[in-house]
Amino acid sequence: MAPNAPMSHGSADHPDGPPGWFADGVVYEIYPQSFADSNGDGIGDLRGVIDHLDHLAWLGVDVIWFNPCFASPFRDAGYDVEDYLAIAPRYGTNEDMMELVRAARERGMRVLLDLVAGHTSIEHPWFQASATDPGDDRYIWADRPGPGLVRSPGSRPGWYLRNFFDEQPALNFGYAHPDHREPWRQPADAPGPTANREALKEIIGFWLDKGVAGFRVDMAFSLVKDDDDLDATAALWREIRAWMRGAYPDAVLVPESDEAQTPGVGARGGFDADFALVIHREHSALFNNGGAGVLPWQGGAEPCYFDAHADPATGGRALVEFLRLWHARLDASGPHRLVVLPTSDHDFSRLACGGREGDELRAIFTFLLTWGSIPSIYYGDEIGMRYLPGLPDVEGSVWDPRFNRAGCRTPMQWDAEAPNAGFSSAEPERLYLPLDPRADRPAVAQQRADDASLLCFVRDLIALRRATPALRTTARTRVLAAGYPLVYLRGSDHLVVVNPRRDAVEVRVDGLDGRDASLLLGSGVVVAGSTVSAAGHAHAVLSLA
Ligand code: BGC
Repeated sequence: MAPNAPMSHGSADHPDGPPGWFADGVVYEIYPQSFADSNGDGIGDLRGVIDHLDHLAWLGVDVIWFNPCFASPFRDAGYDVEDYLAIAPRYGTNEDMMELVRAARERGMRVLLDLVAGHTSIEHPWFQASATDPGDDRYIWADRPGPGLVRSPGSRPGWYLRNFFDEQPALNFGYAHPDHREPWRQPADAPGPTANREALKEIIGFWLDKGVAGFRVDMAFSLVKDDDDLDATAALWREIRAWMRGAYPDAVLVPESDEAQTPGVGARGGFDADFALVIHREHSALFNNGGAGVLPWQGGAEPCYFDAHADPATGGRALVEFLRLWHARLDASGPHRLVVLPTSDHDFSRLACGGREGDELRAIFTFLLTWGSIPSIYYGDEIGMRYLPGLPDVEGSVWDPRFNRAGCRTPMQWDAEAPNAGFSSAEPERLYLPLDPRADRPAVAQQRADDASLLCFVRDLIALRRATPALRTTARTRVLAAGYPLVYLRGSDHLVVVNPRRDAVEVRVDGLDGRDASLLLGSGVVVAGSTVSAAGHAHAVLSLA
């Protein structure tokens, strides 16, 4: 599709598409251990979230997505599940989750949980049984060492296949190319894989019956092994999705997606959207001058999402590249053409990294909340919480030093004047992860009291988006200028101008036809005839007469 061709999405085109609360919603990601600690043990918990639901409603959030909060030994932040049907005691109880879901619904919000489908913890009873019983095939056991294979910790001889860290053994969903000479390469319809598919349905049904609205699926592409074209994995998800559609028609299922690993798993697996978690290429192309080293664990010197230090020498090419990647991702996302774009997430650096603040952050939020994607706000990004490079991990990289993610997982800063910034009443040294130590760390209470704050700006943007159908995800987007500044039309009469650069820029825009533009929100943009002038980091939503 040409960069300036209109994009259209969702439910209007595909009546069987995801419900409007998701397709046009604003998602908010809560990393449970760091959001709010209600019992003073230094770790966030569900009751802490319940206590802050009014704040999320004030912000205008529609959907809360939780990272895994199930029983776990926490060697990878709960992405190593020990019991899918029980909330981790550190976070509370199943009843707390049900109360949270109810309290969120009363405030117009829905809850998505994280389905870790491809692996469990080594502590899961399924794995414990499998590590002692050579006849058990819920996991993949080889009789010789090889890539990704880890020596058995139990009485069973052999090696198990890991899915991520060694402590995360891959559940057996079969191989795309079974081979009887290597009996662990079972077909996808063998008893072990069949039992695991049924188990996924049980887990999904268990939580949907409790009022949860759907799931983000962790590493959704990783299930069937050696499935290079993802045909078998997509078929598995289509089966689960079809079952869900019958049993829970209003629930949503969204895969973690990475353009390198999941070309089109969202579309072909029958998912509702792609959750573009690993979007460094798109992000970089738009705001990062095409830089590649944005992932802490890929060795970026100053890992940074949406790096606005765009090099004027690229002359707008980065923006064209962004649009190319975006359209490719949108096309691959499926019939509903829905992609979730996060501000950042629990795996990478935060939006506020590399000294970024103020209008630079406002420009990025303006883009994310008015682009034709589903925005997902990572807790704390809305106040400009900072990324802390090099902060030692308590999980994850302890097991594999290539991953260092603590810097984007520090406790939420609720009140600059309260102990521990209002996150916890524990002694500071008992906090599971330390707070941003800087004296000027941003906080919710102070920003709520200041109309000129980033937080109030984000709230105003969300409110404008809610009040204006043309600004929502499923309305049409037409890019009018694919250079700097980025200029696009939403619907027929809303214009958005975003300048990711710190230098002022001006562009002639065909398609404005001399229409009068009045500012709805933002600053630094002047529209005169067909000329759009944008100050450094200018960002504006305008209505066209
Ligand atoms: C999650 C990571 C996790 C990994 C293994 C990723 O998709 O976002 O946080 O470590 O999967 O489950």
